[in-house]
Parts: sequence; C-alpha cells; structure tokens
Amino acid sequence: MQKGEDIFKKIIAHAKEYGFIFQSSEIYDGLSAVYDYGQNGSALKNNIKDYWWKSMVQYHENIVGIDSAIFMHPTVWKASGHVDAFNDPLIDNKDSKKRYRADVLIEDHMAKLEDKINKEVEKAAKRFGETFDEKMFRETNPRVLANQEKIDNIRTRFVKALDNNDLKDVKALIEEQGIACPVSGSKNWTDVRQFNLMFSTQMGSLSEDANLIYLRPETAQGIFVNYLNVQKTGRMKIPFGIAQIGKAFRNEIVARQFIFRMREFEQMEMQYFVRPGDEKQWYEYWKEERIKWHKSLGIPDELFRFHDHDKLAHYANAAADIEFEFSFGFKELEGIHSRTDFDLGAHQKFSGKKLQYFDPETNESYVPYVVETSIGLDRMFLAILSHAYKEETLEDGSQRVVLNIPPMLAPVKAAILPLMKKDGLPEKARELMDKLKYDFMCRYEEKDAIGRRYRRQDAIGTPYCITIDHQTLEDNTVTIRERDTMQQERLHMDEVKQVVLERISYRRG
Ligand code: GAP
Repeated sequence: MQKGEDIFKKIIAHAKEYGFIFQSSEIYDGLSAVYDYGQNGSALKNNIKDYWWKSMVQYHENIVGIDSAIFMHPTVWKASGHVDAFNDPLIDNKDSKKRYRADVLIEDHMAKLEDKINKEVEKAAKRFGETFDEKMFRETNPRVLANQEKIDNIRTRFVKALDNNDLKDVKALIEEQGIACPVSGSKNWTDVRQFNLMFSTQMGSLSEDANLIYLRPETAQGIFVNYLNVQKTGRMKIPFGIAQIGKAFRNEIVARQFIFRMREFEQMEMQYFVRPGDEKQWYEYWKEERIKWHKSLGIPDELFRFHDHDKLAHYANAAADIEFEFSFGFKELEGIHSRTDFDLGAHQKFSGKKLQYFDPETNESYVPYVVETSIGLDRMFLAILSHAYKEETLEDGSQRVVLNIPPMLAPVKAAILPLMKKDGLPEKARELMDKLKYDFMCRYEEKDAIGRRYRRQDAIGTPYCITIDHQTLEDNTVTIRERDTMQQERLHMDEVKQVVLERISYRRG
C-alpha cells in the first residue's frame, strides 16, 4: 500500500473526482468534519454494510439485527455515563489559537519516542546483519532502554491523571515533556478542560431543560434498552447477539483526516449477551472473529494489528482496538469491548425496570454481561479506499489509477461496453445489460474509445469489463476483462452471469 501525506491527498481528490465522497454543503464552503457520499461512495458503503450485516446476522443463528431510533430518552445518556463522562480533555495553544485533544498530544509524543526506538533497532539490524538478535538488543541497548523508560513513565502518569480527572497534571505533563504546538512550535498552553462530545437539541416547542435531548453518540444504547424486547420476542437464549447499523454523532474537538474522524458518522455494532464470568472467553473469541473478518477481504494481514487499551472506558473491563495502517499510520478501525453488566445494570437502576434474564440451564436470573464489537462504517470505507488506491505504470509506459476494491464490495460489478456505437453493437450490449442488471450492479457505457472507458472503470474499481464486439454478433461471445491483471478471456454471453456471480460471491470454500 502506498503511504504518506501526498498519497492521502490524492485519495481524497480521487474520492471527489469519481463520485465517492463530497464535502457536505460544499457550495457554502462545507461544514467541518461532515461528508456526503456520492453515487459510487454510497454504493460502496451499502456493500460494506451488507457484507457486515450478513457476516453478523445472516451467518450466525444466534444474532439478530435491529434498527433503533437516533433520539432516545435523555435518561438513557445519564444512565450510560455519557452525560458525566463522555468527555475529551482539550487544550488550546495561546499563540496559534489551535485547539487539541490533550491525550492526543501526549500519545503523539509517545509515538515519536517509539519511532526513535524503532530507528535505533533498524540501524542496529543493518549493522549486525543476520546475527542480529532484536529481542536482546531491545533489552540491553541503553538508548532504547532510556526511551522505553520515558514512554512507560509518561503512560503511567497520564493514565493515572486521566483516571483521577487530574487535568492540572495532564497540563504539567505536556509542559514537562516540552510538547509544542505542531502548527506554531509554541509551548504556550491554556489549562486543560473537559469537553462533552454529545450534540444536544430540544424536543417539542419548549426549550426547558426537561426537553433537552441528545443525538446518540453510539448506537449501542439502542440495543441495550431493547435487549429484553428482543430476547423475549425472539426467544433468544444466552449467549446471543443483537446487531445494528446506524448514525452516531460526536462533537469532535479536533476533526481531521477526512472521513476518519467525523462529527456525523455511522457505526456497525453488535452486543453479545453472555453469562457473567464467561465474558473474557467471549471477548477473546470476538477479537479473533473480527480480525478474521477483516482479513477475509483479501487485504494483507500486516495492515492490521491489535492495540490493547491502557485506559479503559468507564464501562469496560477489557478493551482492544483493531488498528489498520492508513496512509497516515496505524489507527483504530474497530473496538472490541468487554462492557460487563455496566449498561444493563445502570438502565435497570435508572428505569426501575428489571432487565434480568432467566437462564434455564442454571435456573438462575441475572443481568447478562456484554461483549461488543463496534466498527465505524466510514473508517472501514476509508481503509478499503486507502488500500485499494494504486497508481500504476503499464507496460506501454502509460499510467493508470486503479482501485483494487475487493470485487464483492465494488460499487459497480460489471461494465457493459459495446466496442463501437454502431453496427448493432449497442443493441447487443443492451440485451446483455438487461440480463445482468437484476443480479448485480452493472453500468452501460458507449461513449469514448474503449481504452478510456476501461480507465474510467478502473478508477472506480469495477472488477469486470464486458466488451461486445463484432465477433459477438457472429457467435454470441464477449470478452471479460479483469481489472487488476487486465487479462481478457472470451466467454459465451450466457456464461457471463454465472462467472461474475461466482467471482463476486461472499462464499468462501
Ligand atoms: N459503542 C462503543 C463505541 O462507540 P468507540 O471506540 O467510541 O466505541 C467505535 O467507537 C468505533 O466507531 C471506532 O472504532 C471508530 O471506527 C468509529 N468512530 C468513533 N468515533 C468516530 C468518528 N468521530 N468518526 C468516524 N468514526 C468514528
């Protein structure tokens, strides 16, 4: 995968030029960290949703899906802890007037120290060649050890400061470490303060406090408050899961990196309800299942890694991220959280309604524990796009930009292209189009030379281009060109549907 700032800018420009993503309200100069999906973007997004939904709901007999409302009773957010604890610590630089998340400044600083260690290791590996023992080097080299000790000390102090809500110490840490504003280089910082990330609005015509409601910052709570409805009406037995795809809203302090951090985004979440005490086992199970899911898309394994959380969210007893290596580095793509009985317990307390499950196997009633998998749809979209974007120089010296989107997710599966706009070729192509369009997304194109049409389809990631030429008129065969290899084969028109369906299928093995 190509990396770096320049490639990232090219991906953003490509996403706009080819109808994947536009800035929201662009004609009014846009709205910060809000984006619209265009004709190809919405198709890709729908395909990702469909793949996730089928993997979770259709392929698991004990997982069902719901679609809960964005607006919820305000007490939901009190019970869930979001009113009191869904905060980010923010800090402003007095000279540049730029605002930052204090935790991100500290994490970036630790990442720089980590980079120093890695460079030291790389240098030594080159120097010692095959005899290099990395483990021993990391354990004994004084510079590596000194930097590692610095990282460990910063981390311990930072986690403690955040746990104790000691914002003065967070600021002191930033100052002691000499962390400067990335824009101005200035170290002139304001105090750190907490900032709640929920958007609020009023319901009804009165603007009294009682009518204040929130736009949900996660879809999970819609699942928690419906857990008994689903369990009873679906006669679900523990362990079982409830999945949901939907919008979430967060007033992010620093919204950056395109669709990576948005103020309005979509989540695909699954809450798995388990017997208390079994949660760690299910947590490990879902960690493995989810990373397998990502790898099933044919994206190289080394672009994914786990990151175990140092600082746990208010609801979790274990948490890990699946990180993806975007062009700007490894970042969180999905979270797997062991949420204990925190949410159901809190809703039981705040609502006064029993949310217990009677377990027929143990003859006991209890509030189930929950393991959740939570992935940002937009981040998944960005991961696919970042991996897919390739600039290639072909054998004849010409250039092409191709999106190697996994065929099953591609916005358009097959382009139907009459070689020329005459001799009855368009009519024949339309005949094929009419046969295929009910089974998968096809696009018919007759304008421009065939080479240019291939390039346009490459640029949106269409895996198959089917060309109707003069031979088609004689024997009903067409060529099918594969996007990545650009190899062509000849097939009978009647075979095309089956061949494409097999190649875009979710089925493995
Ligand atoms: N229910 C748990 C939960 O919401 P989270 O780690 O805050 O956990 C889960 O969010 C996922 O949602 C993240 O891994 C990320 O993919 C996505 N996400 C979170 N904030 C986002 C944002 N501002 N923009 C885009 N995606 C976001």
